[in-house]
Amino acid sequence: SVYHVFESVAKKYDIMNDSMSLGIHRLWKDTLLHQMNPYPGTQLLDVAGGTETNAGDIAFRFINYIRSQWDHQIRQKLKSHQNLSWQEISKSYQQEENELPGGSQVVVCDINKEMLKIGKQKAQHLGYSEGLSWVVGNAEELPFIDNKFDVYTIAFGIRNVTHIDQALQEAYRVLKPGGRFLCLEFSQVNNPLISRLYDLYSFQVIPVLGEIIAGDWKSYQYLVESIRCFPAQEEFKAMIEDTGFLKVEYQNLTSGIVAIHSGFKL
Ligand SMILES: C[S@@+](CC[C@H](N)C(=O)[O-])C[C@H]1O[C@@H](n2cnc3c(N)ncnc32)[C@H](O)[C@@H]1O
Repeated sequence: SVYHVFESVAKKYDIMNDSMSLGIHRLWKDTLLHQMNPYPGTQLLDVAGGTETNAGDIAFRFINYIRSQWDHQIRQKLKSHQNLSWQEISKSYQQEENELPGGSQVVVCDINKEMLKIGKQKAQHLGYSEGLSWVVGNAEELPFIDNKFDVYTIAFGIRNVTHIDQALQEAYRVLKPGGRFLCLEFSQVNNPLISRLYDLYSFQVIPVLGEIIAGDWKSYQYLVESIRCFPAQEEFKAMIEDTGFLKVEYQNLTSGIVAIHSGFKL
Protein backbone atom coordinates (compact mmCIF):
# COMPACT_ATOMS: atom_id res chain seq x y z
CA SER A 1 0.00 0.00 0.00
CA VAL A 2 0.94 3.64 -0.27
CA TYR A 3 1.36 3.70 3.48
CA HIS A 4 4.03 1.03 3.34
CA VAL A 5 5.83 2.72 0.51
CA PHE A 6 6.15 5.80 2.67
CA GLU A 7 7.21 3.79 5.67
CA SER A 8 9.95 2.19 3.64
CA VAL A 9 11.28 5.40 2.19
CA ALA A 10 10.74 7.62 5.20
CA LYS A 11 14.33 7.58 6.37
CA LYS A 12 15.83 8.53 3.07
CA TYR A 13 13.01 10.66 1.85
CA ASP A 14 14.63 14.00 2.61
CA ILE A 15 17.71 13.24 0.57
CA MET A 16 15.57 11.82 -2.20
CA ASN A 17 13.18 14.72 -2.31
CA ASP A 18 16.04 17.14 -2.58
CA SER A 19 17.89 15.20 -5.22
CA MET A 20 14.75 14.37 -7.20
CA SER A 21 13.50 17.91 -7.38
CA LEU A 22 17.05 19.31 -7.31
CA GLY A 23 15.99 21.30 -4.26
CA ILE A 24 13.35 23.18 -6.24
CA HIS A 25 10.58 21.89 -3.95
CA ARG A 26 11.71 24.58 -1.51
CA LEU A 27 10.93 27.31 -4.01
CA TRP A 28 7.59 25.69 -4.84
CA LYS A 29 6.72 25.74 -1.14
CA ASP A 30 7.78 29.38 -0.83
CA THR A 31 5.44 30.17 -3.71
CA LEU A 32 2.62 28.36 -1.93
CA LEU A 33 3.12 30.59 1.11
CA HIS A 34 3.12 33.73 -1.01
CA GLN A 35 -0.13 32.63 -2.58
CA MET A 36 -1.60 31.99 0.83
CA ASN A 37 -0.33 35.32 2.17
CA PRO A 38 -1.51 34.56 5.73
CA TYR A 39 -1.93 37.29 8.33
CA PRO A 40 -1.46 37.22 12.11
CA GLY A 41 -4.46 35.26 13.31
CA THR A 42 -4.75 32.84 10.38
CA GLN A 43 -5.58 29.27 11.43
CA LEU A 44 -3.89 26.75 9.16
CA LEU A 45 -4.33 23.03 8.75
CA ASP A 46 -1.49 21.36 6.85
CA VAL A 47 -2.46 17.84 5.85
CA ALA A 48 0.13 15.20 4.94
CA GLY A 49 2.67 17.49 6.56
CA GLY A 50 4.85 14.76 8.03
CA THR A 51 7.80 13.05 6.36
CA GLU A 52 11.33 13.06 7.74
CA THR A 53 13.07 16.41 7.34
CA ASN A 54 10.32 17.64 5.04
CA ALA A 55 7.99 17.43 7.99
CA GLY A 56 6.76 20.88 8.84
CA ASP A 57 8.01 22.39 5.60
CA ILE A 58 4.74 24.24 5.17
CA ALA A 59 4.12 24.84 8.87
CA PHE A 60 7.55 26.40 9.53
CA ARG A 61 7.24 28.60 6.47
CA PHE A 62 3.82 29.65 7.71
CA ILE A 63 5.21 30.60 11.11
CA ASN A 64 8.03 32.61 9.56
CA TYR A 65 5.58 34.33 7.27
CA ILE A 66 3.23 35.25 10.13
CA ARG A 67 6.11 36.63 12.16
CA SER A 68 7.40 38.76 9.31
CA GLN A 69 3.87 40.04 8.60
CA TRP A 70 3.60 40.99 12.24
CA ASP A 71 6.93 42.82 12.23
CA HIS A 72 5.88 44.60 9.08
CA GLN A 73 2.58 45.66 10.65
CA ILE A 74 4.36 47.04 13.69
CA ARG A 75 6.82 48.97 11.57
CA GLN A 76 3.97 50.45 9.55
CA LYS A 77 2.17 51.41 12.72
CA LEU A 78 5.24 53.09 14.18
CA LYS A 79 5.86 54.92 10.94
CA SER A 80 2.35 56.33 10.82
CA HIS A 81 2.52 57.46 14.47
CA GLN A 82 5.79 59.30 14.64
CA ASN A 83 5.51 60.66 18.16
CA LEU A 84 4.70 57.62 20.25
CA SER A 85 6.25 57.34 23.67
CA TRP A 86 8.59 54.45 24.25
CA GLN A 87 5.94 52.85 26.45
CA GLU A 88 3.58 52.88 23.54
CA ILE A 89 6.25 51.52 21.24
CA SER A 90 7.20 48.69 23.57
CA LYS A 91 3.52 47.92 24.06
CA SER A 92 3.01 47.51 20.35
CA TYR A 93 5.78 44.92 20.31
CA GLN A 94 4.18 43.01 23.12
CA GLN A 95 2.60 39.77 22.27
CA GLU A 96 0.83 37.07 24.17
CA GLU A 97 3.25 34.53 25.50
CA ASN A 98 3.17 31.03 24.05
CA GLU A 99 1.30 32.28 21.06
CA LEU A 100 2.03 33.20 17.52
CA PRO A 101 1.23 36.77 16.53
CA GLY A 102 -2.50 37.38 16.46
CA GLY A 103 -3.12 33.94 17.92
CA SER A 104 -2.28 32.18 14.68
CA GLN A 105 -2.17 28.42 14.86
CA VAL A 106 -0.98 25.70 12.58
CA VAL A 107 -1.96 22.07 12.91
CA VAL A 108 0.09 19.52 11.04
CA CYS A 109 -1.84 16.35 10.30
CA ASP A 110 -0.43 13.14 8.89
CA ILE A 111 -1.63 9.56 8.79
CA ASN A 112 1.76 8.28 9.86
CA LYS A 113 2.67 8.94 13.47
CA GLU A 114 6.34 8.19 12.89
CA MET A 115 6.49 11.02 10.39
CA LEU A 116 4.88 13.35 12.90
CA LYS A 117 7.36 12.35 15.56
CA ILE A 118 10.18 13.38 13.28
CA GLY A 119 8.38 16.64 12.64
CA LYS A 120 8.03 17.34 16.33
CA GLN A 121 11.71 16.69 16.93
CA LYS A 122 12.62 18.92 14.06
CA ALA A 123 10.37 21.70 15.36
CA GLN A 124 11.99 21.45 18.77
CA HIS A 125 15.43 21.55 17.21
CA LEU A 126 14.58 24.61 15.12
CA GLY A 127 12.83 26.37 18.00
CA TYR A 128 9.28 26.33 16.72
CA SER A 129 6.74 25.63 19.42
CA GLU A 130 4.12 28.36 19.81
CA GLY A 131 0.92 27.82 17.92
CA LEU A 132 2.09 24.54 16.44
CA SER A 133 0.53 21.14 16.98
CA TRP A 134 0.80 17.68 15.46
CA VAL A 135 -2.18 15.42 14.98
CA VAL A 136 -2.38 11.91 13.58
CA GLY A 137 -5.22 11.70 11.11
CA ASN A 138 -6.42 10.55 7.74
CA ALA A 139 -7.08 13.17 5.07
CA GLU A 140 -10.20 11.20 4.15
CA GLU A 141 -11.60 11.46 7.65
CA LEU A 142 -10.11 14.42 9.43
CA PRO A 143 -10.28 14.47 13.23
CA PHE A 144 -11.49 18.10 13.36
CA ILE A 145 -14.81 19.83 13.78
CA ASP A 146 -16.54 21.67 10.93
CA ASN A 147 -15.64 25.26 10.03
CA LYS A 148 -12.43 25.36 12.04
CA PHE A 149 -9.64 26.57 9.74
CA ASP A 150 -8.98 29.59 7.55
CA VAL A 151 -6.64 27.72 5.27
CA TYR A 152 -6.15 24.08 4.36
CA THR A 153 -2.92 23.04 2.66
CA ILE A 154 -1.77 19.74 1.30
CA ALA A 155 1.66 19.60 -0.34
CA PHE A 156 2.65 16.50 -2.27
CA GLY A 157 0.10 14.58 -0.27
CA ILE A 158 -3.23 14.32 -2.05
CA ARG A 159 -1.71 12.14 -4.75
CA ASN A 160 -1.21 9.45 -2.12
CA VAL A 161 -4.73 9.56 -0.77
CA THR A 162 -6.92 6.67 -1.92
CA HIS A 163 -10.17 8.60 -2.29
CA ILE A 164 -9.28 12.07 -3.46
CA ASP A 165 -12.91 13.18 -3.60
CA GLN A 166 -13.33 12.23 0.05
CA ALA A 167 -10.22 14.19 1.02
CA LEU A 168 -11.58 17.21 -0.84
CA GLN A 169 -14.92 16.94 0.95
CA GLU A 170 -13.12 16.79 4.26
CA ALA A 171 -11.07 19.84 3.36
CA TYR A 172 -14.30 21.65 2.57
CA ARG A 173 -15.91 20.56 5.80
CA VAL A 174 -13.15 21.71 8.15
CA LEU A 175 -12.70 25.09 6.45
CA LYS A 176 -14.57 28.12 7.72
CA PRO A 177 -16.85 29.86 5.27
CA GLY A 178 -14.44 32.15 3.43
CA GLY A 179 -11.66 29.65 4.00
CA ARG A 180 -9.20 28.67 1.35
CA PHE A 181 -8.04 25.34 -0.01
CA LEU A 182 -4.49 25.22 -1.38
CA CYS A 183 -2.91 22.18 -2.91
CA LEU A 184 0.66 21.82 -4.15
CA GLU A 185 1.03 18.70 -6.24
CA PHE A 186 2.84 17.23 -9.19
CA SER A 187 0.90 17.91 -12.33
CA GLN A 188 1.19 17.69 -16.09
CA VAL A 189 4.00 19.34 -18.03
CA ASN A 190 2.66 21.51 -20.82
CA ASN A 191 5.80 22.03 -22.90
CA PRO A 192 6.59 19.10 -25.27
CA LEU A 193 10.39 19.39 -25.04
CA ILE A 194 10.42 19.72 -21.26
CA SER A 195 7.91 16.90 -21.12
CA ARG A 196 10.34 14.59 -22.97
CA LEU A 197 13.22 15.52 -20.66
CA TYR A 198 11.01 15.19 -17.63
CA ASP A 199 9.91 11.69 -18.69
CA LEU A 200 13.50 10.64 -19.20
CA TYR A 201 14.46 12.01 -15.84
CA SER A 202 11.48 10.44 -14.09
CA PHE A 203 11.69 6.97 -15.55
CA GLN A 204 15.43 6.61 -16.17
CA VAL A 205 17.04 8.63 -13.41
CA ILE A 206 14.77 8.69 -10.38
CA PRO A 207 14.48 4.91 -9.86
CA VAL A 208 18.25 4.66 -10.22
CA LEU A 209 18.74 7.36 -7.62
CA GLY A 210 16.20 5.55 -5.46
CA GLU A 211 18.25 2.40 -5.70
CA ILE A 212 21.56 4.14 -5.01
CA ILE A 213 20.43 6.39 -2.18
CA ALA A 214 17.68 4.38 -0.54
CA GLY A 215 18.35 0.89 -1.91
CA ASP A 216 14.77 0.92 -3.07
CA TRP A 217 14.04 0.98 -6.80
CA LYS A 218 10.43 -0.13 -6.56
CA SER A 219 9.19 2.58 -4.22
CA TYR A 220 10.60 5.30 -6.38
CA GLN A 221 9.26 3.79 -9.52
CA TYR A 222 5.92 3.75 -7.75
CA LEU A 223 6.30 7.42 -6.87
CA VAL A 224 7.01 8.31 -10.49
CA GLU A 225 4.01 6.32 -11.66
CA SER A 226 1.73 7.85 -9.06
CA ILE A 227 2.73 11.26 -10.35
CA ARG A 228 1.62 10.26 -13.86
CA CYS A 229 -1.68 8.84 -12.66
CA PHE A 230 -2.69 11.97 -10.83
CA PRO A 231 -5.32 14.02 -12.72
CA ALA A 232 -4.01 16.88 -14.85
CA GLN A 233 -4.60 20.55 -13.97
CA GLU A 234 -8.05 21.00 -15.54
CA GLU A 235 -9.37 17.67 -14.36
CA PHE A 236 -8.25 18.29 -10.79
CA LYS A 237 -9.72 21.78 -10.96
CA ALA A 238 -13.07 20.24 -11.94
CA MET A 239 -12.87 17.83 -9.01
CA ILE A 240 -12.28 20.72 -6.61
CA GLU A 241 -15.25 22.57 -8.11
CA ASP A 242 -17.42 19.46 -7.81
CA THR A 243 -16.70 19.48 -4.08
CA GLY A 244 -18.33 22.89 -3.83
CA PHE A 245 -15.29 25.16 -3.80
CA LEU A 246 -15.63 28.44 -5.70
CA LYS A 247 -13.19 30.66 -7.54
CA VAL A 248 -11.07 27.60 -8.29
CA GLU A 249 -7.83 28.44 -10.05
CA TYR A 250 -4.43 26.93 -10.56
CA GLN A 251 -0.94 28.18 -11.19
CA ASN A 252 1.64 26.08 -12.98
CA LEU A 253 5.15 26.10 -11.58
CA THR A 254 8.20 24.95 -13.54
CA SER A 255 6.24 24.28 -16.75
CA GLY A 256 3.54 22.40 -14.89
CA ILE A 257 5.82 19.87 -13.22
CA VAL A 258 3.83 21.01 -10.22
CA ALA A 259 0.72 23.14 -9.86
CA ILE A 260 -0.89 25.04 -7.04
CA HIS A 261 -4.67 24.67 -7.02
CA SER A 262 -6.70 27.13 -5.00
CA GLY A 263 -10.36 27.31 -4.12
CA PHE A 264 -12.63 29.04 -1.61
CA LYS A 265 -15.44 27.81 0.57
CA LEU A 266 -17.91 30.64 0.17
C1 LIG B 1 5.35 13.05 -0.01
S1 LIG B 1 4.94 13.26 1.66
C2 LIG B 1 4.60 15.01 1.72
C3 LIG B 1 5.43 15.71 2.74
C4 LIG B 1 5.33 17.22 2.85
N1 LIG B 1 3.95 17.70 2.85
C5 LIG B 1 6.13 17.88 1.77
O1 LIG B 1 5.58 18.73 1.11
O2 LIG B 1 7.31 17.58 1.58
C6 LIG B 1 3.40 12.49 1.78
C7 LIG B 1 2.86 12.36 3.19
O3 LIG B 1 1.48 12.04 3.08
C8 LIG B 1 1.13 11.23 4.16
N2 LIG B 1 -0.15 10.59 3.84
C9 LIG B 1 -0.37 9.60 2.95
N3 LIG B 1 -1.68 9.29 2.91
C10 LIG B 1 -2.30 10.10 3.81
C11 LIG B 1 -3.65 10.26 4.24
N4 LIG B 1 -4.65 9.50 3.73
N5 LIG B 1 -3.93 11.18 5.16
C12 LIG B 1 -2.95 11.95 5.70
N6 LIG B 1 -1.66 11.85 5.32
C13 LIG B 1 -1.33 10.94 4.40
C14 LIG B 1 2.32 10.31 4.32
O4 LIG B 1 2.37 9.75 5.60
C15 LIG B 1 3.48 11.27 4.03
O5 LIG B 1 3.98 11.81 5.22
